[in-house]
Amino acid sequence: MVLAALWPRRLARYRRSFLPPSASTFSAERTRARLPRAFRWRRSPHHHFFRPITHKDEVHARFVTGGTGHSGSHIIPELIAAGHEVTGLARSDASAAALSALGATVRRGDLQDLDGLKEAAADSDGVIHVAHRQDLLPFGGMDAVAAAEIPVMLAYGEALAGTGKPLVVAGSVGSSGQLGRRATEEDPALFVDDEHRGTLRVRNVVETTVIGLAEQGVRSSVVRIANIAHGTSDRAGFLPMLIALANERGFAGYPGDGANVWNAVHIRDIALLFRLALEKGEAGRYWHAVEDEGIPFREIAEAIGSRLSLPAVSIPLDELMLPGYFGFMANIVTQSYPTSNVITREALGWEPTHPGLIADLDNGHYLPEGRS
Ligand SMILES: NC(=O)c1ccc[n+]([C@@H]2O[C@H](COP(=O)([O-])OP(=O)(O)OC[C@H]3O[C@@H](n4cnc5c(N)ncnc54)[C@H](OP(=O)(O)O)[C@@H]3O)[C@@H](O)[C@H]2O)c1
Repeated sequence: MVLAALWPRRLARYRRSFLPPSASTFSAERTRARLPRAFRWRRSPHHHFFRPITHKDEVHARFVTGGTGHSGSHIIPELIAAGHEVTGLARSDASAAALSALGATVRRGDLQDLDGLKEAAADSDGVIHVAHRQDLLPFGGMDAVAAAEIPVMLAYGEALAGTGKPLVVAGSVGSSGQLGRRATEEDPALFVDDEHRGTLRVRNVVETTVIGLAEQGVRSSVVRIANIAHGTSDRAGFLPMLIALANERGFAGYPGDGANVWNAVHIRDIALLFRLALEKGEAGRYWHAVEDEGIPFREIAEAIGSRLSLPAVSIPLDELMLPGYFGFMANIVTQSYPTSNVITREALGWEPTHPGLIADLDNGHYLPEGRS
């Protein structure tokens, strides 16, 4: 009673935290997040035991978009395990349920609601943005998907300007163009011309916009994701597409001599990199989420072929033959993307620990059982 008189609101909140959670909101992490801070426990860095949160622990509220997707569904648990409180954007009941199951608080909304995004960003201590309007792909390709990102980035800029809060956004390797050497984190995204075929033109504008927000007092950075982001949640990436093509055609194709290199990274190592960039990345920086820095395309085709008991076959570098096999990927498969991750490792202490591309092909997700 005395406590209730002294701290009515705090006590009410404390009592509410013991009410049974609804089915859609139940999770250990979420229940923990409802407790008054002094009553919360956090997982130790060694994950062997839990310890109470002390005054030294800063619990940060993070806003994450795309939390139901391939990368976002790993980023949210990575943040929560490190002690962050996460609010995720959900545009449907199914997405809301998926975010709750990951331990995030749900904010209903859509990427088209710029005011809502501004409010969510302003309410948070930092933003990770990995959602993208893939529904626009059939109408305007990657350019349309990327163009829809620009107003979103400007909205975040308005909400976060002058705060020094972090904004970490997904980008793509290759945005610095074909340099004839390994691209580094210091190579900016290009404003492209024909010389740099294969660069995702509008996407470069998105990256440049995000980096530019650093000048407005946002701790903004871009995580450039490798060509192949592999793992058990990979449903629509290049790797499942190449496997499907090989199955369909009866052989695994590679362009020309297949000496051009692609890079790859495990999705859980990407999640770690997003967290590190959020926590300690400097403003205006590119980070390279790349583990296998350059795998000859021929090796990727051979690895797929061997697991499907299919031959790996060269596709002539011909304007009919290449699209004949690779379809809309014809321009991309001929590109070479040697990419360094040295600066990312040194500046953020990022160390990828999960399996590389060829080993991960056998994780049971990509290939039918018995063929791996
Ligand atoms: N995966 C790769 O290999 C790769 C490589 C290079 C770059 N990237 C870039 O990395 C980013 C993340 O890729 P990903 O593969 O993790 O994404 P993903 O699996 O395709 O997931 C997309 C996410 O965006 C959300 N979303 C789509 N439209 C939305 C809307 N209108 N409002 C709110 N949310 C919306 C989806 O939510 P719902 O659950 O509601 O659909 C989903 O959570 C993208 O920008 C992608 O271009 C990816």
